[in-house]
Amino acid sequence: MRFKSQKIAFWFFAVCMLLLILQVTYGFIMGFARIGMDGLHDFIPFNAARATHTNLLVVWLLTGFMGAAYYIIPEEADRELHMPQLAWVQLISWVVVGVIAIVGFHFNWWEGRKFLEIPRPLDYLVVVNVLLFLYLIGMTIWNAKKHSTTQLVLFFGLFCAALLYLPGMIYFDNQTLDSYFRWWVVHLWVEGVWELIMGAILAFLLIKLTGVDREVVEKWLYVIVGLTFLSGILGTGHHYYWIGTPKYWLMVGGIFSALEPLAFLGMALWAINMYRKKGKDHPNKLALYWTLGCAIMSFVGAGFLGFAHTWPQVNKWTHGTLITAMHGHMAFWGAYGMLVFAVIAYALPQLTGRKLFNNLSGYLAFWSANIGMVGMTGALAVAGITQVYLERKLGLDFLAAQKETEVHFIGMMLAALLFTFGVILFIYDFIRHGKPNDEAIVAATSAE
Ligand code: HEM
Ligand code: HEM
Ligand SMILES: [Fe+2]
Repeated sequence: MRFKSQKIAFWFFAVCMLLLILQVTYGFIMGFARIGMDGLHDFIPFNAARATHTNLLVVWLLTGFMGAAYYIIPEEADRELHMPQLAWVQLISWVVVGVIAIVGFHFNWWEGRKFLEIPRPLDYLVVVNVLLFLYLIGMTIWNAKKHSTTQLVLFFGLFCAALLYLPGMIYFDNQTLDSYFRWWVVHLWVEGVWELIMGAILAFLLIKLTGVDREVVEKWLYVIVGLTFLSGILGTGHHYYWIGTPKYWLMVGGIFSALEPLAFLGMALWAINMYRKKGKDHPNKLALYWTLGCAIMSFVGAGFLGFAHTWPQVNKWTHGTLITAMHGHMAFWGAYGMLVFAVIAYALPQLTGRKLFNNLSGYLAFWSANIGMVGMTGALAVAGITQVYLERKLGLDFLAAQKETEVHFIGMMLAALLFTFGVILFIYDFIRHGKPNDEAIVAATSAE
């Protein structure tokens, strides 16, 4: 750490871990409901648990991105954060809005639009909060002496993510139009502008961890941004197949979305190559594990598993089934979950001055979380194939087919236990680092 104001990142990361634990808890509530143990139904029905699980996911990831920005931007801009006290106001108000939203879901205060369930009045508060966030990091960059590509791509990604929240706030009384614009948020986030955030954070980590020249690392960042826009924007069409839009989307969506894995493949090859070129051995191997792991797992979860069901010929069978949930878990974890873990693994020793990186619990956390997630994905894949076959090939009733997948959910939850064990170990290490402190500040040359 080089600047006092970077310490705020620690508190964003801490909130992020808390929300993750809560998300996993709701995952288990749904998992139990899926195997017929739905004792909590009267208080937390499946729809409330699902909305809570997925919204908490988005909120902990965004909290992680914000923490990452508060850590990375001052370092890249080479100056203290602009008005750091306001970052506290932003964190606290962010948490308050999040808590109100989650509590609201349990009292049926929600919009039944997957991932965008947060009611409209709260959306306005989210907008104000995010504007404050953008103002703080924007002004830090504005007043900076240098403007690195990494910080500009990070800011642009965060700015576009905020902008793309707005189409989800327009009111339509037409189902097709509502669905059409919902994807501008959901798809253009994860398969568009969040990839810019991912590229920028990976670039920052690769520069620090491999010692490869900034020019080389950043040159490839342009390629990633290019590939993302080329494929991701029209790739939105893979959500327009069956919602009442014109037929040409079958072709446009199919072709462009099939190109999307290239951006993720690009990121994986980029990270591996930078690692192979490395000019120095950074002592924080764990951060490197999470960084490379993120680049590789995102290719498998988003690129490979996304590709598997993106063709209209396949998607007409798998649409909206557990195949989607299979892909959703590994893509979100591989790309964005692991990205946040990578930043935390890198930043914690820097923020606290405690170099707890090469310990057994850290490696165990990495392997059990990832093997657990591969297991969860595998169980959901089998459940999904079973569902497609029984429900859509044999014509079994929806609930009758779901009943047959109970056994797979037992497997899924066993794997989820392993995953959760990894997450808990990671948090155990997090806590052992203690709080951030000013003694951890080091001069520019030794900060890496
Ligand atoms: C990190 C990037 C990605 C994440 C986090 C992600 C996550 C998700 C999630 C959560 C859904 C369900 C959305 C909903 O129904 O509301 C979904 C759907 C889908 N994703 Fe991805 N995805 C990613 C990348 C990709 C890529 C690169 C492809 C294609 C190559 C792809 C193909 C699809 C398809 C076809 C669907 C629709 C499934 C259906 O019809 O039910 N995804 N994705
Ligand atoms: C570890 C314990 C977890 C369990 C037991 C669990 C379980 C579940 C269940 C049962 C569903 C609902 C599937 C359905 O519609 O029937 C679900 C949805 C979802 N979960 Fe999890 N989950 C866990 C962790 C996670 C994590 C760590 C992530 C992301 C990093 C995640 C991302 C998602 C997403 C994106 C969906 C929505 C998928 C879709 O749109 O179809 N979950 N989860
Ligand atoms: Fe998509």
